Amino acid sequence: MAIRFSLYYHSKENGEYLQKIINSSRQGMLVETQSLAKLPPEVNSGTDVVFLEYQEDDAKLDRWIEKTAADPKSPSIFLFLHEITTNSLWKALRLGVKECFAFPIRPEEFQEALDRLPRPDINLELADTTRVVAFLGSKGGVGNTFLTTNVAHLLGQEQKSQVLVVDLDLRYGQVVYFYDIRPKYTIIDVIENFERIDSSYLQSLFHPYDKYLSILPAPARLEEAEAVTPDHLEKILRYLKNLRVFSWILLDCCHQMDEVTLRALELSDDILLVTNPSIPALSNAKKLLDLLHLLDLGGVRSEVLLNSWQKRGDLGESEVEGFLGREISNKITFDPIQVGRSINEGRPLGEMASRHSVCQDLRAIVTKLLGDDASRGNGHGRSWIRRLVRKD
Ligand SMILES: Nc1ncnc2c1ncn2[C@@H]1O[C@H](COP(=O)(O)OP(=O)(O)OP(=O)(O)O)[C@@H](O)[C@H]1O
Ligand SMILES: [Mg+2]
Repeated sequence: MAIRFSLYYHSKENGEYLQKIINSSRQGMLVETQSLAKLPPEVNSGTDVVFLEYQEDDAKLDRWIEKTAADPKSPSIFLFLHEITTNSLWKALRLGVKECFAFPIRPEEFQEALDRLPRPDINLELADTTRVVAFLGSKGGVGNTFLTTNVAHLLGQEQKSQVLVVDLDLRYGQVVYFYDIRPKYTIIDVIENFERIDSSYLQSLFHPYDKYLSILPAPARLEEAEAVTPDHLEKILRYLKNLRVFSWILLDCCHQMDEVTLRALELSDDILLVTNPSIPALSNAKKLLDLLHLLDLGGVRSEVLLNSWQKRGDLGESEVEGFLGREISNKITFDPIQVGRSINEGRPLGEMASRHSVCQDLRAIVTKLLGDDASRGNGHGRSWIRRLVRKD
């Protein structure tokens, strides 16, 4: 979720510098910037942080800070000081300031300060609908997590709307590594606290990656996976769909066809089946396509994504399509160096190498998702999948 800043500067030059710092952070979003002389008596209600270029010996400014900080409903206050001394820090602390900075501000230092902030209340425009997209790997290691995490990041950036990634690889979920994040909570916390959940409580359980992207990680421990049932998943997804905070929910589904995965598919609007041009992955993909056909998922659309594609590979595109009996919706270029770097650094390609060919291929998936505004199924009429996988 975005952290909204109002910035009040003394010198224009410092104002521009601070603006750059805010805009280059992952979650910071500038909603207002003014000269300090125009500091309003009351802070803009859509602000989470007021960033002030502090002026010594300005008693009026000190009173403003003290009064604002004393109101629990007020945004947090950050100061930009000309110099940080013990005295200035004591004074800032007494006034109720949250964070103090001096030139030069290191991006990591600023990011840490953002991470320490209390989460802002959700005060966003509601999405018209929440579209759930399941990424389903045809086999281990075909790139399902890479595609889910990267498409989610690009979707948020391109559409400027809220996207949630849910890691449904419940045993070995690796989404956190693809974003290099260390979230405090996982899906287990959502399940354990479900009865107490409201929209703002939810925010504290999802990990914000940037302005548009949030993550719900898989359980941290192997044995916790058993605690997640299909009914839990259904409750969470239905709650989120009703809430309409997220425009998109992307599910990184496990390639094992277990009951949770099947419920995820049942509740999705789109299924993107991920395969690569190898016989084992393609033969699994064929079986899964047959199963999806058999399940007859009402309004749900399924597409095939062919990852790790090489023009001069062993199999041609028409051979792959002939084998699957289906058209390939998107091909994603094979590039172990770029993809490996993105995964090992934990940074999506859209952030790291947005003009790279793999990133262009990922963007084509996003364009396709955004372009398809045909009316979607809402999960009704698919309840017989449940009967199919029920154990009794
Ligand atoms: N387009 C690509 N080009 C080259 N290598 C790729 C590409 N996509 C994925 N890979 C490689 O494939 C490996 C597996 O990727 P990823 O973890 O996303 O797959 P997965 O299907 O989620 O696997 P798992 O079954 O373990 O969850 C990664 O090490 C990555 O480097
Ligand atoms: Mg994976």
